[in-house]
Amino acid sequence: MIVTPPALLVGRLGRRAAIRWAVAGGLVLAAKGAVTVLLLANFGWPFAGDQVLVEIPVVLVPAAAAVLLASRGVRPVLAVRVTAAGAFLGFFHAFTVKAETPNVFGYGALLLLATAALRALPPIRSRLGATVRMVAVVALVATGFGYGSFTSRWPERHTMAGTGHGHGQVAGPPVDVAGLTGPRVGEPDRSFTLTAAETPITLASGASVAAWTFNGQAPGPELRVRQGDLVQVTLVNRLPEEGVTLHWHGLDVPNAEDGVAGLTQDAVRPGGTHVYRFRAEQTGTYWYHTHQASSTAVVRGLFGALVVEPAARPADGLDLVVMSHVWPVGEEPRPAFGTADTLTRRTVAPGTPVRLRLVNTGNNTASDAETTTFALTGTPYRVDAIDGVQLHDPADLTGVRLPLATGGRYDLTFTMPEGPVHLADLAHSGGGLLLTPDGRGAPPPVTASGDFDPAVYGRPAPTPFTSSSRFDRRFTIVASDGVGFMDGALDLIQAFNGRIYPNVPAQMVREGDLVKMTLINRSRDNHPMHLHGHHALVLSANGRPVTGSPWWIDSLDMPPGTWFEIGFRADNPGLWMDHCHNLEHAAAGMMMHLGYEGVTTRFETGSATGNQPE
Ligand code: C2O
Ligand code: CU
Repeated sequence: MIVTPPALLVGRLGRRAAIRWAVAGGLVLAAKGAVTVLLLANFGWPFAGDQVLVEIPVVLVPAAAAVLLASRGVRPVLAVRVTAAGAFLGFFHAFTVKAETPNVFGYGALLLLATAALRALPPIRSRLGATVRMVAVVALVATGFGYGSFTSRWPERHTMAGTGHGHGQVAGPPVDVAGLTGPRVGEPDRSFTLTAAETPITLASGASVAAWTFNGQAPGPELRVRQGDLVQVTLVNRLPEEGVTLHWHGLDVPNAEDGVAGLTQDAVRPGGTHVYRFRAEQTGTYWYHTHQASSTAVVRGLFGALVVEPAARPADGLDLVVMSHVWPVGEEPRPAFGTADTLTRRTVAPGTPVRLRLVNTGNNTASDAETTTFALTGTPYRVDAIDGVQLHDPADLTGVRLPLATGGRYDLTFTMPEGPVHLADLAHSGGGLLLTPDGRGAPPPVTASGDFDPAVYGRPAPTPFTSSSRFDRRFTIVASDGVGFMDGALDLIQAFNGRIYPNVPAQMVREGDLVKMTLINRSRDNHPMHLHGHHALVLSANGRPVTGSPWWIDSLDMPPGTWFEIGFRADNPGLWMDHCHNLEHAAAGMMMHLGYEGVTTRFETGSATGNQPE
């Protein structure tokens, strides 16, 4: 809100005029503050804090001084000018990206500086005064631009490790990421080869996609293993130019097997190979994808399903992976389940136990602000597992929408009824998967209303820690958008704690630490957050404790205006990506990492290295 009395601009201000302007400005400000605080009342302090601590005081303090001076008979010219400068600062603050804590001292200092400048400058009416001001403003803006542009340039070479908060001394020699491998010796129980290549694919509608494939197909082959298996996957790159890696999304493998280009390995160049080996310790639904320039490469098809079945209980009935993806058909995004972008029917005998493993690999079908939302109609069903982890005592659901984070998974279970059952992406009418007893029939009407809420679903069960445990480390990640510099240019940016890659400090932990992370989304877009190498327990959602089943995640959707507290045990040493899984946001810098003290990497990112970690 700019409160600039016109008289101020010409530098003449009578005492009464000054009071009138100051009072008017104060009233406008108070009204704006009241409205904002009311609007933010639902959102709480993390959202309103810097309104209260920065944007309001920078105007209110000098305005109060102006009124006070005027009432004492002093002409408050300077105070009124400072109020205007404060209004400008507050306005500026409103459009910039936000840090963990309001920058009270920074803006306070700027206001003092403005005061000093306004005092020291010669009067505006003199020619010298006008020139000095002009030069000062131009110099200030140019310096700001130059500094912002220069410091935001993506380096040609950059090491992602060793820069962060809480970096301390650890005993012992540094540990190289490359040494944190899975079992290097021993016969694998299951071994696979995945060959990346450029292969056009055809969707069910006939639309063709200039896809990148694994073994000639996109999605790539489904990898199904048993818990405890030693898994070996050989990656072969036959793409013409692009590097490739394999990341096991949601599976907490040893760090060197995590597949992040420039952090845990070099991207495999065309013609190259890389062998991944790990033991599949967790059961459930996961997926794999390249972690090199994924905003292009995953979208074009370099991903597939990874299912770990329990060692004891083989799958019975129908156990089906449904990968929801959004294909680039020309310029148009085309939502599909696998390659089925039209309604697909499948015959299932009534009474068959069904498990649909729904994986959201799509970036966003709806708008950037919304979550991809599914619905299952025609039968009551349960969400049996989230992100691979079994829920405790899930109840039957009917008539709810299922918002699912990009990267996230829901296992939906039910017994096949006598009539048809339809699973659909609600943004994609005319599509979806139709299970019917006779291979015929039409989708039952979607009656879903209200969103499935994991925070209140199922029943509580003991967890290794709770929100009242003593946490060794606490971190906050504020996602916000605003005007800022990205790779040298001014842009609308999405930032973590006011910064973007490669300038977001790492969050440093020691092995064994219990860590609490507060995730706050203050931007206008949805941010599905994904932490590698660890499953985190959601402790609270929007200030309310989780009251349902323990809710473990590796991908957590954060619609605008939401905030979450999550906790995890730092039990998997290494350097782990923590990023937004809207891959375009990640590519634009919404990435940071969790670092274990004493762990280093020899791998580098940047244009000179061929590694693009996102
Ligand atoms: Cu599914 Cu860091 O990725
Ligand atoms: Cu995002």
